[in-house]
Amino acid sequence: MLRKFNFEIMPEIKERWSPRAFDSQAISRDEIMAVLEAARFAPSCFNEQPWRFIIADEEESLQKMREALTPSNQEWANKAPVLILIASKKTFTLNGKGNFWHMFDAGTAWGYLSLEAQRRGLITHAMGGFNREKARVEFHIPEDYDIITVIAVGHYGQKDCLSGELQDREHPEDRVELRELIMDEGLHTNE
Ligand SMILES: Cc1cc2nc3c(=O)[nH]c(=O)nc-3n(C[C@H](O)[C@H](O)[C@H](O)COP(=O)(O)O)c2cc1C
Repeated sequence: MLRKFNFEIMPEIKERWSPRAFDSQAISRDEIMAVLEAARFAPSCFNEQPWRFIIADEEESLQKMREALTPSNQEWANKAPVLILIASKKTFTLNGKGNFWHMFDAGTAWGYLSLEAQRRGLITHAMGGFNREKARVEFHIPEDYDIITVIAVGHYGQKDCLSGELQDREHPEDRVELRELIMDEGLHTNE
């Protein structure tokens, strides 16, 4: 599927997509940390930086992380050399009040992470399909943190290692038209 862009934008945004054909080739800790460094510099409400990462990049932690994934994600993500869980702190550290924006901010951090990975020739694939309670117990995540996603990070491998069904889905997804995202109608209802 060919994506069409209406404007010239950052190459990393144009090139990033969510493949499933991971190669099992390891990624150095340094490279993982560099990708997380990009996430660290995301903006956040009151500079709270609510995002937290649990890195699984060696057999024992990878196995634990894999076990939390849904079977349909395990099918392809078990090959990824790195799985990163993203959690987000629900309250402001300063005053203990609820932080309405924490998920928004953690999402920005994931966006930065994915683009820096793309710039470095790595692929990323976010997963909502996993057992949050299992992950909370296994990785001792306190109740004050929402467990949002698990990200697979690695190099692109061989598409033909995927099942036929997944091979059919192994392409960048298109997007709705930009004009459909602009809610001008609502702004003019009182005119
Ligand atoms: C929060 C989040 C959860 C997702 N969960 C899954 C998942 O559980 N399994 C999966 O195969 N893809 C998952 N995806 C990938 C999306 O389906 C994908 O990003 C979307 O279809 C757009 O395609 P693209 O990333 O290739 O542009 C998830 C993406 C996000 C951002």
